[in-house]
Amino acid sequence: MPHTYTLDDYDAAAATIRARTQHKPTIGLVLGSGLNGLADQVQQADLIPYGDIPHFGTSTVPGHAGRLVIGELAGASVCVMQGRLHFYEGYSMQQITLPVRVMQRLGINTLILTNAAGGLNPTFAAGDLMVISDHINFVGMAGANPLSGPNLDALGPRFPAANRVYTRRLRALAMQVAADENINLQSGTYVVLSGPNFESPAEVRMWRMLGGDAVGMSTVPEALVAHHAGMEVLAISTITNMGVEVMDADVEPTHEDVVAAGAIIVPRLTALLLGVVRRMGSRALE
Ligand code: HPA
Repeated sequence: MPHTYTLDDYDAAAATIRARTQHKPTIGLVLGSGLNGLADQVQQADLIPYGDIPHFGTSTVPGHAGRLVIGELAGASVCVMQGRLHFYEGYSMQQITLPVRVMQRLGINTLILTNAAGGLNPTFAAGDLMVISDHINFVGMAGANPLSGPNLDALGPRFPAANRVYTRRLRALAMQVAADENINLQSGTYVVLSGPNFESPAEVRMWRMLGGDAVGMSTVPEALVAHHAGMEVLAISTITNMGVEVMDADVEPTHEDVVAAGAIIVPRLTALLLGVVRRMGSRALE
Protein backbone atom coordinates (compact mmCIF):
# COMPACT_ATOMS: atom_id res chain seq x y z
CA MET A 1 0.00 0.00 0.00
CA PRO A 2 1.52 3.37 -0.93
CA HIS A 3 1.88 6.12 1.65
CA THR A 4 -1.31 8.14 1.75
CA TYR A 5 -1.81 11.69 2.90
CA THR A 6 -5.05 13.55 3.48
CA LEU A 7 -5.86 17.10 2.45
CA ASP A 8 -5.44 17.98 6.14
CA ASP A 9 -1.83 16.72 6.00
CA TYR A 10 -1.05 18.91 2.99
CA ASP A 11 -2.84 21.86 4.59
CA ALA A 12 -0.94 21.43 7.87
CA ALA A 13 2.35 21.68 5.99
CA ALA A 14 1.08 24.70 4.03
CA ALA A 15 0.00 26.39 7.29
CA THR A 16 3.47 25.93 8.78
CA ILE A 17 5.02 27.56 5.71
CA ARG A 18 2.50 30.42 5.72
CA ALA A 19 3.35 31.15 9.36
CA ARG A 20 7.05 31.53 8.46
CA THR A 21 6.81 34.00 5.55
CA GLN A 22 4.98 37.14 4.44
CA HIS A 23 5.46 36.24 0.78
CA LYS A 24 2.56 34.79 -1.18
CA PRO A 25 4.31 32.74 -3.84
CA THR A 26 2.53 31.84 -7.08
CA ILE A 27 5.45 30.11 -8.83
CA GLY A 28 7.18 27.00 -7.47
CA LEU A 29 10.67 26.02 -8.55
CA VAL A 30 12.37 22.68 -7.92
CA LEU A 31 16.16 22.66 -8.26
CA GLY A 32 17.88 19.48 -9.38
CA SER A 33 21.33 18.06 -8.66
CA GLY A 34 24.05 20.72 -8.75
CA LEU A 35 21.52 23.47 -9.49
CA ASN A 36 21.16 24.86 -5.95
CA GLY A 37 22.89 28.09 -6.95
CA LEU A 38 19.79 29.51 -8.59
CA ALA A 39 18.23 30.01 -5.14
CA ASP A 40 20.92 32.62 -4.35
CA GLN A 41 19.11 34.98 -6.73
CA VAL A 42 15.99 35.05 -4.54
CA GLN A 43 15.58 38.41 -2.75
CA GLN A 44 14.16 38.97 0.76
CA ALA A 45 14.39 35.24 1.19
CA ASP A 46 12.80 33.30 4.03
CA LEU A 47 14.55 29.95 4.51
CA ILE A 48 12.63 26.95 5.85
CA PRO A 49 14.48 23.62 6.28
CA TYR A 50 12.38 20.66 5.17
CA GLY A 51 12.80 19.17 8.64
CA ASP A 52 10.72 22.05 10.10
CA ILE A 53 7.68 21.28 7.93
CA PRO A 54 5.22 18.50 8.92
CA HIS A 55 5.39 15.40 6.67
CA PHE A 56 8.33 16.70 4.57
CA GLY A 57 11.19 14.25 4.05
CA THR A 58 14.75 15.54 4.25
CA SER A 59 17.26 15.50 1.36
CA THR A 60 19.98 12.88 1.70
CA VAL A 61 21.83 13.58 -1.57
CA PRO A 62 24.97 15.74 -1.87
CA GLY A 63 24.10 18.77 -4.01
CA HIS A 64 20.58 19.01 -2.56
CA ALA A 65 20.37 21.58 0.26
CA GLY A 66 16.99 20.49 1.61
CA ARG A 67 15.14 23.72 2.34
CA LEU A 68 12.52 26.04 0.92
CA VAL A 69 13.67 29.48 -0.19
CA ILE A 70 10.66 31.80 -0.43
CA GLY A 71 10.99 35.33 -1.75
CA GLU A 72 11.06 37.55 -4.82
CA LEU A 73 12.65 36.56 -8.11
CA ALA A 74 12.48 38.57 -11.33
CA GLY A 75 9.34 40.40 -10.25
CA ALA A 76 7.48 37.32 -9.03
CA SER A 77 6.86 35.71 -5.66
CA VAL A 78 8.45 32.27 -5.71
CA CYS A 79 8.86 29.22 -3.52
CA VAL A 80 12.07 27.41 -4.40
CA MET A 81 12.76 23.83 -3.35
CA GLN A 82 16.51 23.92 -2.92
CA GLY A 83 16.98 20.22 -3.40
CA ARG A 84 14.34 17.59 -4.06
CA LEU A 85 13.47 14.17 -2.67
CA HIS A 86 14.03 11.10 -4.85
CA PHE A 87 12.47 7.66 -5.08
CA TYR A 88 15.95 6.09 -4.84
CA GLU A 89 16.47 7.63 -1.39
CA GLY A 90 13.84 5.17 -0.19
CA TYR A 91 10.95 7.63 -0.15
CA SER A 92 7.64 6.59 -1.64
CA MET A 93 6.29 8.34 -4.72
CA GLN A 94 3.70 9.98 -2.44
CA GLN A 95 6.43 11.31 -0.14
CA ILE A 96 8.55 12.77 -2.94
CA THR A 97 5.56 14.55 -4.45
CA LEU A 98 4.10 15.83 -1.17
CA PRO A 99 5.87 19.22 -1.50
CA VAL A 100 4.18 19.79 -4.87
CA ARG A 101 0.74 19.33 -3.34
CA VAL A 102 1.71 21.55 -0.43
CA MET A 103 2.74 24.23 -2.93
CA GLN A 104 -0.61 23.86 -4.65
CA ARG A 105 -2.38 24.34 -1.29
CA LEU A 106 -0.22 27.44 -0.75
CA GLY A 107 -1.70 29.00 -3.88
CA ILE A 108 1.08 28.20 -6.32
CA ASN A 109 -0.32 27.65 -9.82
CA THR A 110 2.86 27.24 -11.86
CA LEU A 111 5.61 24.71 -11.23
CA ILE A 112 9.06 24.94 -12.82
CA LEU A 113 11.04 21.72 -12.50
CA THR A 114 14.75 21.36 -13.24
CA ASN A 115 16.94 18.29 -13.24
CA ALA A 116 20.28 16.83 -14.23
CA ALA A 117 19.92 14.27 -17.00
CA GLY A 118 21.93 12.03 -19.26
CA GLY A 119 21.68 12.71 -22.99
CA LEU A 120 20.26 9.95 -25.21
CA ASN A 121 19.69 11.93 -28.40
CA PRO A 122 22.97 11.67 -30.35
CA THR A 123 22.65 15.28 -31.51
CA PHE A 124 22.84 16.45 -27.87
CA ALA A 125 26.06 17.23 -25.99
CA ALA A 126 26.96 17.54 -22.32
CA GLY A 127 26.19 21.12 -21.32
CA ASP A 128 22.96 21.38 -23.33
CA LEU A 129 19.64 22.49 -21.89
CA MET A 130 16.44 20.69 -22.90
CA VAL A 131 12.84 21.72 -22.36
CA ILE A 132 10.81 18.59 -21.62
CA SER A 133 7.91 18.22 -24.05
CA ASP A 134 6.88 14.68 -23.06
CA HIS A 135 8.01 11.78 -20.93
CA ILE A 136 8.25 7.99 -20.74
CA ASN A 137 7.36 6.96 -17.19
CA PHE A 138 9.14 3.62 -16.83
CA VAL A 139 8.91 3.76 -13.06
CA GLY A 140 5.17 4.44 -13.20
CA MET A 141 4.69 1.59 -15.66
CA ALA A 142 6.46 -0.66 -13.17
CA GLY A 143 3.81 0.24 -10.61
CA ALA A 144 5.27 3.18 -8.69
CA ASN A 145 2.94 6.03 -9.60
CA PRO A 146 2.46 9.00 -7.24
CA LEU A 147 -1.24 9.09 -8.09
CA SER A 148 -1.95 5.53 -6.98
CA GLY A 149 -3.88 5.07 -3.77
CA PRO A 150 -7.08 6.88 -2.85
CA ASN A 151 -7.74 9.82 -5.17
CA LEU A 152 -8.21 13.24 -3.60
CA ASP A 153 -11.12 14.49 -5.69
CA ALA A 154 -10.66 18.02 -4.32
CA LEU A 155 -7.31 18.13 -6.12
CA GLY A 156 -8.01 16.40 -9.42
CA PRO A 157 -9.58 13.46 -11.26
CA ARG A 158 -9.03 9.75 -10.64
CA PHE A 159 -7.90 9.20 -14.24
CA PRO A 160 -6.00 12.30 -15.34
CA ALA A 161 -4.86 12.69 -18.94
CA ALA A 162 -1.11 12.83 -19.54
CA ASN A 163 -0.92 14.35 -23.02
CA ARG A 164 -0.73 17.95 -21.82
CA VAL A 165 1.44 17.67 -18.71
CA TYR A 166 4.09 20.13 -19.96
CA THR A 167 2.18 23.34 -20.64
CA ARG A 168 2.49 24.39 -24.28
CA ARG A 169 2.44 28.12 -23.48
CA LEU A 170 5.35 27.75 -21.05
CA ARG A 171 7.41 25.62 -23.45
CA ALA A 172 6.89 28.26 -26.14
CA LEU A 173 7.84 31.00 -23.66
CA ALA A 174 11.05 29.15 -22.75
CA MET A 175 11.92 28.77 -26.44
CA GLN A 176 11.29 32.47 -27.01
CA VAL A 177 13.44 33.52 -24.05
CA ALA A 178 16.21 31.17 -25.20
CA ALA A 179 16.14 32.66 -28.68
CA ASP A 180 16.22 36.21 -27.31
CA GLU A 181 19.07 35.45 -24.91
CA ASN A 182 21.07 33.38 -27.41
CA ILE A 183 20.79 30.23 -25.31
CA ASN A 184 20.80 26.92 -27.15
CA LEU A 185 17.66 25.10 -25.93
CA GLN A 186 16.81 21.58 -27.08
CA SER A 187 13.36 20.08 -26.75
CA GLY A 188 12.55 16.43 -26.17
CA THR A 189 11.22 13.43 -24.32
CA TYR A 190 12.53 12.63 -20.83
CA VAL A 191 12.75 9.02 -19.69
CA VAL A 192 12.57 8.43 -15.95
CA LEU A 193 14.30 5.50 -14.30
CA SER A 194 14.22 4.83 -10.57
CA GLY A 195 17.99 5.05 -9.98
CA PRO A 196 20.25 5.12 -8.09
CA ASN A 197 22.31 3.32 -10.70
CA PHE A 198 22.92 5.05 -13.98
CA GLU A 199 21.63 3.23 -17.04
CA SER A 200 23.25 0.23 -18.68
CA PRO A 201 24.44 0.47 -22.30
CA ALA A 202 21.57 -1.78 -23.45
CA GLU A 203 19.11 0.51 -21.64
CA VAL A 204 20.62 3.55 -23.37
CA ARG A 205 20.15 1.87 -26.74
CA MET A 206 16.61 0.73 -25.87
CA TRP A 207 15.43 4.14 -24.70
CA ARG A 208 16.97 5.85 -27.68
CA MET A 209 15.11 3.40 -29.92
CA LEU A 210 11.88 4.15 -28.06
CA GLY A 211 12.19 7.88 -28.66
CA GLY A 212 13.83 9.08 -25.45
CA ASP A 213 16.04 12.17 -25.71
CA ALA A 214 17.27 12.36 -22.10
CA VAL A 215 17.19 10.11 -19.05
CA GLY A 216 17.07 10.92 -15.35
CA MET A 217 15.79 9.92 -11.92
CA SER A 218 13.20 12.58 -11.07
CA THR A 219 10.75 15.22 -12.33
CA VAL A 220 8.04 13.00 -13.85
CA PRO A 221 6.32 12.18 -10.53
CA GLU A 222 6.26 15.87 -9.57
CA ALA A 223 5.02 16.90 -13.01
CA LEU A 224 2.19 14.33 -12.91
CA VAL A 225 1.05 15.39 -9.44
CA ALA A 226 1.18 19.08 -10.39
CA HIS A 227 -0.79 18.50 -13.58
CA HIS A 228 -3.32 16.37 -11.71
CA ALA A 229 -3.96 19.32 -9.39
CA GLY A 230 -4.37 21.82 -12.23
CA MET A 231 -0.94 23.48 -12.06
CA GLU A 232 0.92 24.58 -15.18
CA VAL A 233 4.29 22.86 -15.57
CA LEU A 234 7.57 23.80 -17.20
CA ALA A 235 10.43 21.30 -16.92
CA ILE A 236 14.03 21.86 -17.99
CA SER A 237 16.74 19.20 -18.10
CA THR A 238 20.40 20.07 -17.91
CA ILE A 239 22.31 17.49 -19.93
CA THR A 240 25.25 16.90 -17.60
CA ASN A 241 26.63 13.86 -19.44
CA MET A 242 25.83 11.65 -22.39
CA GLY A 243 24.47 8.15 -21.71
CA VAL A 244 27.14 5.52 -22.30
CA GLU A 245 25.95 3.08 -24.97
CA VAL A 246 29.14 1.08 -25.41
CA MET A 247 29.79 -1.93 -23.19
CA ASP A 248 33.20 -1.73 -21.42
CA ALA A 249 33.73 1.91 -22.42
CA ASP A 250 36.57 3.66 -20.59
CA VAL A 251 34.22 6.34 -19.23
CA GLU A 252 31.43 6.10 -16.70
CA PRO A 253 29.08 8.75 -15.30
CA THR A 254 29.52 9.75 -11.65
CA HIS A 255 27.43 11.96 -9.36
CA GLU A 256 30.46 14.22 -8.84
CA ASP A 257 30.69 14.80 -12.59
CA VAL A 258 26.95 15.49 -12.71
CA VAL A 259 27.22 18.12 -9.95
CA ALA A 260 30.33 19.68 -11.54
CA ALA A 261 28.65 19.88 -14.95
CA GLY A 262 25.54 21.35 -13.31
CA ALA A 263 27.64 24.18 -11.88
CA ILE A 264 28.87 25.04 -15.37
CA ILE A 265 25.34 25.03 -16.77
CA VAL A 266 23.76 27.04 -13.91
CA PRO A 267 24.49 30.52 -15.37
CA ARG A 268 22.65 29.65 -18.60
CA LEU A 269 19.83 27.91 -16.76
CA THR A 270 19.58 30.95 -14.48
CA ALA A 271 19.38 33.34 -17.43
CA LEU A 272 16.71 31.19 -19.04
CA LEU A 273 14.58 30.83 -15.92
CA LEU A 274 14.90 34.47 -14.91
CA GLY A 275 13.70 35.45 -18.38
CA VAL A 276 10.81 33.01 -18.18
CA VAL A 277 9.74 34.13 -14.69
CA ARG A 278 10.06 37.81 -15.61
CA ARG A 279 7.78 37.38 -18.60
CA MET A 280 5.35 35.22 -16.69
CA GLY A 281 5.18 37.94 -14.08
CA SER A 282 4.59 40.72 -16.55
CA ARG A 283 1.98 38.62 -18.34
CA ALA A 284 0.07 38.23 -15.10
CA LEU A 285 -0.09 42.03 -14.78
CA GLU A 286 -1.49 42.60 -18.29
N1 HPA B 1 21.25 8.98 -16.06
C1 HPA B 1 20.33 9.17 -15.12
N2 HPA B 1 20.26 10.25 -14.38
C2 HPA B 1 21.18 11.20 -14.59
C3 HPA B 1 22.18 11.06 -15.54
C4 HPA B 1 22.21 9.88 -16.32
O1 HPA B 1 23.08 9.68 -17.20
N3 HPA B 1 22.93 12.18 -15.50
C5 HPA B 1 22.40 12.97 -14.54
N4 HPA B 1 21.33 12.37 -13.99
